[in-house]
Amino acid sequence: MKEIDPAIIPKIKFYNGLEIPAVGLGTFGSDHISADQIAEAVYNAVKIGYRHIDCAAVYGNEKQIGQALKRLFDEQIVTREELWITSKVWNDKHKDVRGAFEHTLSDLGLDYLDLYLIHWPFPNSHDAGVCVDSRDPKAVPYIHQDFMKTWRVFEDLYHESLCKTIGTSNMTIPKYKLLLADCHVKPMVNEMELHPHFQQPDFFEFLANNGIKAIAFCPIGSPARPDRDKTATDTVPTEDPILVKIAKAHHVHPAVICIKWAVQRGQIPIPFSVKPPKYTINLQCITEDPLTDKEMAEIKSIDKNNRFIKGQVFLWSTAKDWHDLWDEDGTITHI
Ligand SMILES: NC(=O)c1ccc[n+]([C@@H]2O[C@H](COP(=O)([O-])OP(=O)(O)OC[C@H]3O[C@@H](n4cnc5c(N)ncnc54)[C@H](OP(=O)(O)O)[C@@H]3O)[C@@H](O)[C@H]2O)c1
Repeated sequence: MKEIDPAIIPKIKFYNGLEIPAVGLGTFGSDHISADQIAEAVYNAVKIGYRHIDCAAVYGNEKQIGQALKRLFDEQIVTREELWITSKVWNDKHKDVRGAFEHTLSDLGLDYLDLYLIHWPFPNSHDAGVCVDSRDPKAVPYIHQDFMKTWRVFEDLYHESLCKTIGTSNMTIPKYKLLLADCHVKPMVNEMELHPHFQQPDFFEFLANNGIKAIAFCPIGSPARPDRDKTATDTVPTEDPILVKIAKAHHVHPAVICIKWAVQRGQIPIPFSVKPPKYTINLQCITEDPLTDKEMAEIKSIDKNNRFIKGQVFLWSTAKDWHDLWDEDGTITHI
């Protein structure tokens, strides 16, 4: 297996001075990849040079990933300090962040996290694999006071050095404005959907202007996401003629162009695959053969504002549709 020297992987520096490797390995297996397969991919990906792993309690595989990490430490392949491990508090634990955090630490077999995120800004939950039309009867719209109570515990964990960096996920500009006004510790990072067909230029610029970095989930457009997460208007970035053309010029798959574009734009992509050739090229590609300015401009022009992870299952009973989750008119939907 080809190995990539982690020293040549670019890093992104957060405002607190810590540096994250510019590409991480996603670990959400959705319905079709088992926890053991993902843990094995984590083990082998670290062996070939990955140093950044994106986990979450709700992915249901932190225990198995913890066992993979233990093997890596026991076999002296890597030290704890050389790795960047992210996890996220799930929606049903907003009122028990510390308990959820300790559970995640125990599952992963670690005594600190590099990054802890609020997975969604709503406490709304659902059973794994439910259909998109199902709604949690206890679901509520965004309530800023409640979100701040959750964030305060994140600030405590940060001050206690139990997590070195803290952040958010699936946020919007209006919610961020409230958070920035009320936080004691500003988030270092927001994890968000970002790919060539969903570039979120305004939010991306807003974060940059506030010194906050963006981790890009679904950086390839998540082509294997479950059918229940697909709608008739969804596009497929890897089939975009511009990406296909650029990929041919670089002799790679269009997915690889998505990763190069993300890193050159200043995002931190966390592509998912348990297949060694795929996760290897996803890391290697950012060390060689960069996209030209013209290619970057061409990719900028193919944004379709096409959100794939719409979050329908987090809607509350009076919400109209998934657009209500994303504050598209610049105001937070409260009804
Ligand atoms: N914060 C959040 O709310 C949130 C939401 C969604 C995802 N995430 C995180 O983001 C990660 C990535 O998102 P994702 O898994 O949905 O989507 P993704 O990384 O955009 O897409 C994964 C798909 O791309 C394919 N692929 C990967 N590398 C490739 C390559 N080099 N050539 C061709 N195809 C390639 C994989 O193929 P194979 O199937 O053949 O391996 C897989 O089907 C997740 O695993 C998770 O860690 C976070």
